[in-house]
Amino acid sequence: MKKDFLRILNLTSRELLALLSSGREWKRKGGRRGAPRPLGGKTLAMIFQKASTRTRVSFEVGMTRLGGHALFLSPADTQISRGEPVRDTARALSRYVDGIMIRTFLQETVEEMASAATVPVINGLTDTHHPCQVLADLMTAQERGFDLRRMKVAFIGDGNNVANSWVEAAHLLGFTLRLACPKGFEPSARVMREASADGKGDVRIVRDPAEAARDADVLYTDVWTSMGQEKERRRRLAAFRGFGIDAGLLGTARKGAIVMHCLPAHRGEEITDEVMEGPQSAVFDEAENRMHVQMALLERLIPH
Ligand code: CP
Ligand code: NVA
Repeated sequence: MKKDFLRILNLTSRELLALLSSGREWKRKGGRRGAPRPLGGKTLAMIFQKASTRTRVSFEVGMTRLGGHALFLSPADTQISRGEPVRDTARALSRYVDGIMIRTFLQETVEEMASAATVPVINGLTDTHHPCQVLADLMTAQERGFDLRRMKVAFIGDGNNVANSWVEAAHLLGFTLRLACPKGFEPSARVMREASADGKGDVRIVRDPAEAARDADVLYTDVWTSMGQEKERRRRLAAFRGFGIDAGLLGTARKGAIVMHCLPAHRGEEITDEVMEGPQSAVFDEAENRMHVQMALLERLIPH
């Protein structure tokens, strides 16, 4: 496996499937008395330049369960926000810690961090990718009985970081992905191109949510206004009208389909309260699975 995990395409399909199966294993045994603690004495630095509930807590508790320790570094806590070059931070942290998880704006920042750090770097979300989220989502789809090589996923809404990671996963594993996005809010053209280069997936952008959702196994959505886009909120609310998941749209998916959302959710915008709270919603399983699959990732990446 590569030293760093910055995007889904950093993995081979075999490595990805192995992580999911190890994530399921950690779900069974992690946190129990007598469970293995392979990262005893190891420390993960967690740099956050954006807010987080799930990513912060799942990585921190995951490290504890692995026998290690996590350091939470908010924007106020480090010299990065005062202009220290990322490569200097990366080199200094590498002298203390065994891994770095970073949530920031530009993908280039995590790439610079990874190339300067001698320890593994994990992308905890950038404007372009959210690979840890999609690992947890794939684990959730698999535990709900879907075949990751054959399923059909409909992504409804904003073709942003989470959608980009779904595009990479579809091409890596070979499943069908339909993205229903308003004009101007499609996934990154560069990610689409790079992922399809030797991709096996059937990935297409459509304009009609019902067309995407037809016979889908998984309906997925993300917020319409992501972190850092707050000033565009009004324009986005107008542009995304009709691109929410409601009971009507869910009715066009396959019987037994599940609904996923990375969270945080804005009920009444990208998803209705009825669907969020309904029997087909898998959103809190996804949130839980973040921790288990990230434990698998940390175990794999941090030498011990
Ligand atoms: N899904 C996710 O990454 O949630 P947080 O922003 O709370 O970390
Ligand atoms: N697209 C969202 C995901 C939050 C987990 C954001 O970037 O804010």
